[in-house]
Order: sequence, then structure tokens, then C-alpha cells
Amino acid sequence: MLVKVQINGEKHEADVEPRLLLVHLIRDVFRLTGTHIGCDTTHCGACTVLLDGRPVKSCTVFGIQAHNREIMTVEGLEQDGKLHPLQEGFMEEHGLQCGYCTPGMLMTSYAFLRKHPRSTEDEIRQAISGNLCRCTGYVNIVKAIQYAAAKLQNGGA
Ligand code: FES
Ligand code: FES
Repeated sequence: MLVKVQINGEKHEADVEPRLLLVHLIRDVFRLTGTHIGCDTTHCGACTVLLDGRPVKSCTVFGIQAHNREIMTVEGLEQDGKLHPLQEGFMEEHGLQCGYCTPGMLMTSYAFLRKHPRSTEDEIRQAISGNLCRCTGYVNIVKAIQYAAAKLQNGGA
């Protein structure tokens, strides 16, 4: 089936099998490998992308379900060579740790901060509860998101 999507503002199309998952469409067909596959069972959130602005676990969506829709992946965060405050926050606050979960964390928190720019630590923790990090815990990740929230409120990109 022909699937046409807009990813990070660019048009992409491919003829794919109806059973192809969105995460494989993004990674294997369109070669945007920033989106990770952690569990393939909707648990870890590593594969999170935005579909029409809402975070979805792309291992749970068929590629053809994204037909004529807009996808944003982690590659879309950087603009004109400048990191998004969230990416900067993960770097500055050591939120990366092993980094495997980071793309999904970034996309979930990006969507969250757009709707809830002034959130408490508890709200941030709740927002990323569908994204698993198995490293040293969430302390630095939460600090990274708080860093971005503060920067965005002060007029950062
Ligand atoms: S790979 Fe999709 S939720 Fe883990
Ligand atoms: S940083 Fe290692 S799983 Fe998240």
C-alpha cells in the first residue's frame, strides 16, 4: 500500500506492506534511526514519536495509519544546527546516561511542555511514566526537563 507522510516537515512516501509498523517505516524505510526500538511491546517508550502533535509509541501503530499525517521524530527537534532546549537540558544535566531511552523521553516531554509549560516535578514524572529508563533513575532526566522548561519560559527556542 502506498503511504504518504510528512516527517519533520518533509514529504516521504513508500509502498509498504500493511503489517509494517510505524517504527520500522521510520527507521528502515525512511532511514531516520534516531527513533529507537526498546521492547517492541509498548512498554518502554523508546520508540515514541509525535503523530499530528501527539506522542505515540510507534511500535504500536501501523505505518499505514500515519498516511496523510504529520510525524515528528527526534531528528526534528534541532533547528538550524541549534539544539532544542530539551536536548541541551539532557546534555547539561546528564540526563543521557546510556541514552537509549532519550529519543522517546525527548518526544514525550516535548509534547508535554508544549501543553504544560509550568509544571511541577510530580507532573513531569507523571508525564514520562510511560517511558522507561533502566539506568540510574530519573533524577537527571527530570532535571533536564526542568532545565528546558525554564529556558523555554525565558524565551529560549
Ligand atoms: S519499542 Fe515501542 S514501547 Fe518499547
Ligand atoms: S538513559 Fe539508559 S535507559 Fe535511559
